[in-house]
Amino acid sequence: MVHKVKGAVARSKGAPVTVETILVPDPGPGEALVDILTSGVCHTDLHYKLGAINDDFPFLLGHEATGVVSAVGPDVTEVAPGDRVVLNWRAVCGECRACRRGQAQYCFNTHNATQKMTLEDGTELTAALGIGAFAEKTLVAAGQCTKVDPDADAAAVGLLGCGVMAGLGAAINTGGVKRGDSVAVIGCGGVGVAAVAGAALAGATTIIAVDIDAKKLERATELGATHTVDSSAVDPVEAIRELTGGFGADVVIDAVGRPETYKQAFYARDLAGTVVLVGVPSPEMTLDLPLLDVFGRGGSLKSSWYGDCLPSRDFPMLISLYRQGRLDLDAFVTERISINDIEAAFDKMHAGSVLRSVVEL
Ligand SMILES: NC(=O)c1ccc[n+]([C@@H]2O[C@H](COP(=O)([O-])OP(=O)(O)OC[C@H]3O[C@@H](n4cnc5c(N)ncnc54)[C@H](O)[C@@H]3O)[C@@H](O)[C@H]2O)c1
Ligand SMILES: [Zn+2]
Ligand SMILES: [Zn+2]
Repeated sequence: MVHKVKGAVARSKGAPVTVETILVPDPGPGEALVDILTSGVCHTDLHYKLGAINDDFPFLLGHEATGVVSAVGPDVTEVAPGDRVVLNWRAVCGECRACRRGQAQYCFNTHNATQKMTLEDGTELTAALGIGAFAEKTLVAAGQCTKVDPDADAAAVGLLGCGVMAGLGAAINTGGVKRGDSVAVIGCGGVGVAAVAGAALAGATTIIAVDIDAKKLERATELGATHTVDSSAVDPVEAIRELTGGFGADVVIDAVGRPETYKQAFYARDLAGTVVLVGVPSPEMTLDLPLLDVFGRGGSLKSSWYGDCLPSRDFPMLISLYRQGRLDLDAFVTERISINDIEAAFDKMHAGSVLRSVVEL
């Protein structure tokens, strides 16, 4: 059977998102059909819409989601109909070289649904990050469903499906933030503020939030920043050095992903410190740094894909901390909107007035 449901589609580069009828097949082997409850609007959806990820239009957007499994393929055992799940874009294969080396977070062969969802005229859709959750139903690989506590607020825990996990993990997993560290986070949208929260969870004592938008800095303070820097007004490299005894921070996280913010991160860290790039650059961006500075400043320059998370390990642990009141996921949900309001949510993201708009389906 094919299910006809509403979905938010980006048809061509830059075109406004339209809500269309999409066709979702029943799950085949290894697949699960999920009734979506909530899906957050992530900057990566905007990157897709603008053609900054690839040209495989039309895209079915949305990928930061909670849902309920409604049907599974014949061989699926890990989830069952009725399970509350957070969707993930890292369903690891268990067999590639990275998985066999015990580094499943670098899996080269993560699973997505084999069958395609389509528009009514049969045009195949590319699901954003292999998920496509701005839709009443979506089809994913069963491994993309991480079973979670059904009592936790769907909108809040769904954000672990992408941006909040990416930020938390950039600090905790990739950056390896430790008790007593100094950390600076450049760009305090959903991802950056989550990195601030991650640094706080890990016990960093100095947590510097940097943004060009003063409103974002207030939210970062609520989530654990000890200092804020408005980089539209002052040089963030100087400011971070001043706040760290002249040294620079142990870990600097770039949650914007532009050459200028990367350079700020590079020079704002202490000698032998760590830079973590979690913001996603566009294809035309290039970086120009004196190679002698790369050598002379030492340390490590890392990128963080999805916060180096393993969903089955990290989502339940973080939801547990949320339920105990130790990780404020509710603070990330600025507004709850309908599927018709996604363009407006992109505008608000641009205007800096939201941390996360969450679509309720
Ligand atoms: N690596 C991953 O796995 C992963 C996962 C999810 C999202 N992302 C990426 O993370 C980035 C942030 O996502 P988001 O959802 O938080 O976006 P967002 O639009 O909500 O936040 C971006 C923030 O950066 C600030 N900013 C913009 N330019 C700046 C500058 N020059 N200096 C300082 N601050 C600046 C904005 O004011 C805003 O607060 C995006 O590039 C997104 O694609 C990466
Ligand atoms: Zn693998
Ligand atoms: Zn995302």
